[in-house]
Amino acid sequence: MDKPIVTNRALHADALAGLRLSVKRMHPKWFYDSAGSQIFEQITELPEYYPTRTEISILRSEIDTLASFVPEGAALIELGSGASTKTHILLGALKKLGVYVPVDVSGEFLLSVADDLARDYPALTVAPLVGDFLKDLALPAATDGLPKIAFFPGSTIGNLEPSEARDLLRRVRDWPGIAGFILGVDLVKAPDTLVRAYDDSSGVTAAFNKNLLHRMNREIGADFRAENFAHEARWNADKSRIEMHLVSQKAQRVWIGQDSIAFADGESIHTENSHKYTRAAVEDLAAKAGWRVAEFLADPQHHFAVTVLV
Ligand code: SAH
Ligand code: AVI
Repeated sequence: MDKPIVTNRALHADALAGLRLSVKRMHPKWFYDSAGSQIFEQITELPEYYPTRTEISILRSEIDTLASFVPEGAALIELGSGASTKTHILLGALKKLGVYVPVDVSGEFLLSVADDLARDYPALTVAPLVGDFLKDLALPAATDGLPKIAFFPGSTIGNLEPSEARDLLRRVRDWPGIAGFILGVDLVKAPDTLVRAYDDSSGVTAAFNKNLLHRMNREIGADFRAENFAHEARWNADKSRIEMHLVSQKAQRVWIGQDSIAFADGESIHTENSHKYTRAAVEDLAAKAGWRVAEFLADPQHHFAVTVLV
């Protein structure tokens, strides 16, 4: 038999390690290949998925407050920039920005978005960085000597483990010239609102979750049959997080190249956490990483907050 092609060795190693654990899990960063990034954009338009439109409304209404934290000539460094949709609100208001650095693991998607941005803002230097924000980032030379503002919208911080979130905030705190951090966080609310946002009636979030299986088939020679797994969103009150799972619908064995993984009927792969915050939790997280919450800008329903850390 031909050896199946492994085109992504990091994913291969992570998948074998995560799926051999007694409680199977994968890191949510693996959702984002080009297909995953495109499905995420569909999620942002779902009626049930309130975070995107709520954060956009806060960014629009509080833009003057946010702009007051951005020094003239600064480099704006956006973590997990995706389609950079929210960036347009900032770029429209920050006329004297020096450089914009979108950072994302979804390389192809990032570079195509960065090309469009460079065309839309010809006076701005756009310096995209394909990279993993869980590791040290080598910021582009175009940012050398400039004051820096980090922008991390979407509540993507909620997808990190608390220790990963704290370490990321600490690393950014150590960037030379860092002047502030604009951070979006999703807030604790009624569990049924949360579960609906992660288990929408059109099945887009299910497709997003299952793209991970298709990606493993494409990139590491796995033979997952997506129809044998069910998407589930669960609210974990103790940990203040929505969890996404892919639940095996029967006892089955899945091959990843020459290795096989056994699934019991009902056994799940825990694919994502999305932590939900209170103001006190954000203040605590910020303080542990050497930051202070200077602004906590929430919508009237207190569904989402754009915070400024200094
Ligand atoms: N900021 C956008 C997109 C959020 S989706 C918004 O608010 O709508 C999360 C984004 O983070 C995706 O584009 C994904 O590719 C990126 N991402 C996830 N984990 C990452 C990691 N470890 N390093 C860099 N980018 C990551
Ligand atoms: C990117 N991130 C903040 C999204 C979230 O809400 O946790 C990812 C997502 N997962 C399912 N729907 C959206």
